[in-house]
Amino acid sequence: MQEIPLVNYVALIHLCSVAAWLGVVMTEVLIEVYPYVNKNGRAYNSTIHFHYWIDLLLELPLVLLLLGSGIVLIFLNQGLDLLHILKIGSGLVPVLACFAGIYVVLRRSAALKAGKKEEELWWGSRNIVIVVLVASPFFALSMGLGVWLARGRLLEMLAAG
Ligand code: HEM
Repeated sequence: MQEIPLVNYVALIHLCSVAAWLGVVMTEVLIEVYPYVNKNGRAYNSTIHFHYWIDLLLELPLVLLLLGSGIVLIFLNQGLDLLHILKIGSGLVPVLACFAGIYVVLRRSAALKAGKKEEELWWGSRNIVIVVLVASPFFALSMGLGVWLARGRLLEMLAAG
């Protein structure tokens, strides 16, 4: 029986972690936008609490899985070309932006617990929006290049029989 190369299993894990992470980030965008629409203190406090727990329990493990599977893929790949370098580089931007975002979310939550004024908390919220806006084009580029490279790898596998 023909074996499926390990790289395909790891690529599947990488793809699943990207998809799950994207879902989490889209949910976070919704809860971050909510207080802008509904300007009352209670809604804002809930946003800060929810985002804190989502980051710790969901986003951090998912982004570590994404980064880990990406690193394993680098080692499983035979020969990285310029397209791979571009794909990895563009993938690292949203990953690093995510770590920066998590740091801001944790700081904002600590500021809320310390009873800081609402204007100081909005500083964190504005930075979270900036992080998402900066990371989005790089995310799209890495996604597009990843799908393109996966297509090439699968075509090669089919040709090899
Ligand atoms: C948000 C960031 C990222 C996105 C959207 C993304 C997306 C993808 C996608 C869709 C694939 C194709 C998966 C498949 O074969 O089914 C892929 C492959 C890959 N990714 Fe990522 N990725 C990201 C981050 C990273 C990072 C941080 C690294 C390295 C540390 C990385 C390294 C790789 C490598 C080496 C491949 C294999 C390319 C090939 O098939 O030759 N990725 N990525």
